[in-house]
Amino acid sequence: MNLPEAFSTEVSRRGFAKASLLATGTFAMSSLESTLRAAEHTPRRIRTGVIGCGSVSNQYLPVLKDCPFVELVSVCDIRPERARKQAETYQVGHHYPDIEAMLSGVPFDFLIDLTDMQAHEAINRRALQAGKHVWSEKPIANSLKAGEELLRLARQRSVRLWGAPITVQSPQFAFMARKVASGDLGRIAAAHAFYGHEGPDWSSFFYEKGGGSLPDLAVYNLTSLTGLLGPVRKVTAMLTIVTPERSIHEKGNIRVTEEDNAMLLLDHGKGVISHVQSGFNYFNPHGHDGSGEKRHTIQITGSRGYVGMVGYDWAPLGVEWATMDRPQLMRESTESGGYLWQQGAALAAECLATGKEPLVTPEQALHVLEIITAARASSATGRTIPLKSHFRWPLPV
Ligand SMILES: NC(=O)c1ccc[n+]([C@@H]2O[C@H](COP(=O)([O-])OP(=O)(O)OC[C@H]3O[C@@H](n4cnc5c(N)ncnc54)[C@H](O)[C@@H]3O)[C@@H](O)[C@H]2O)c1
Repeated sequence: MNLPEAFSTEVSRRGFAKASLLATGTFAMSSLESTLRAAEHTPRRIRTGVIGCGSVSNQYLPVLKDCPFVELVSVCDIRPERARKQAETYQVGHHYPDIEAMLSGVPFDFLIDLTDMQAHEAINRRALQAGKHVWSEKPIANSLKAGEELLRLARQRSVRLWGAPITVQSPQFAFMARKVASGDLGRIAAAHAFYGHEGPDWSSFFYEKGGGSLPDLAVYNLTSLTGLLGPVRKVTAMLTIVTPERSIHEKGNIRVTEEDNAMLLLDHGKGVISHVQSGFNYFNPHGHDGSGEKRHTIQITGSRGYVGMVGYDWAPLGVEWATMDRPQLMRESTESGGYLWQQGAALAAECLATGKEPLVTPEQALHVLEIITAARASSATGRTIPLKSHFRWPLPV
């Protein structure tokens, strides 16, 4: 395994401390052992800065505050009053009005990028150039090419890059992946996934170039389905705009230029075809927060069985499955097991501190990004678009 720099530094630091203490003879053996044991149980905290103090920061910051692997040192927003407010609310020592001020301010090792979708690529690049590990909200970049360049840059600088979403981390995802791999469902044939709501009304970037419902919403289903069925070989899509004008807080009416309604057909190879339906015009009688969503939003059908995820893949409530041998639907995997959709950056910090690798990888995030850009090309041309990117599959659930 390729251990992160932070992990190897920590291990060698402990080894170094042990060797020095023994050499100087300043510690009795018993107190030395108890000191080292205590050090082993005190997790290393990664000095962390958060950029983007809008809506989703209210979800991330409480998780980061509770995470034993994170020391929150700074927050930043180009709307400085937002950075100041989050610094006060979450007792973060420093706040900055832009990335350059942040980079030249209090030192940190790990940047969490929660800015507008259009800003991610440039901010992620700047942070990697400055030698910071990066967790980015989706998308990591605006194109596969740019995303691959960022990953290359990260490797050159010996830092790590990850991106949301983390649907592959849930126990329900793991249950379904194991069910698919077990052969109980027979030959896997088809899958369907859906996710939508009525669309955000607090920022216009969701509807402008670089935004759209594909990178904001379909990205969850695409991560789940590629995680369950493997990388996609080709994509056919239809994308439309259902609501060409929207009202946004503090802005008034704006024009919608990116898809707010999407249907994608994905060919995973070996005959397996899946379908994703997603958009910003979905009234949901079950509510928005996921807790009331009892339908199967991810459905996988095979020649001998079926498995469905109860609730949204970012906050699943269980899994139901049935086979020819046992045709009654049975519900299992109903516990969250500590999984939260907001914990991706905390998992990344844990990886930096301990070497424990999350299931989520930048390679899969970039593959999903290629599906999104291919879907747009398909919709614009009426053609099926072949893909070239891959990621290591199956995931080690
Ligand atoms: N809001 C949610 O519930 C939610 C959930 C999951 C994922 N996301 C993702 O999180 C990201 C942010 O979404 P949001 O809803 O928080 O948007 P938002 O508009 O509420 O917040 C974005 C913040 O980033 C700041 N910002 C923009 N450019 C910046 C820059 N160059 N430097 C510093 N700050 C900058 C803005 O001023 C704003 O405060 C998006 O990628 C979105 O898809 C949001």
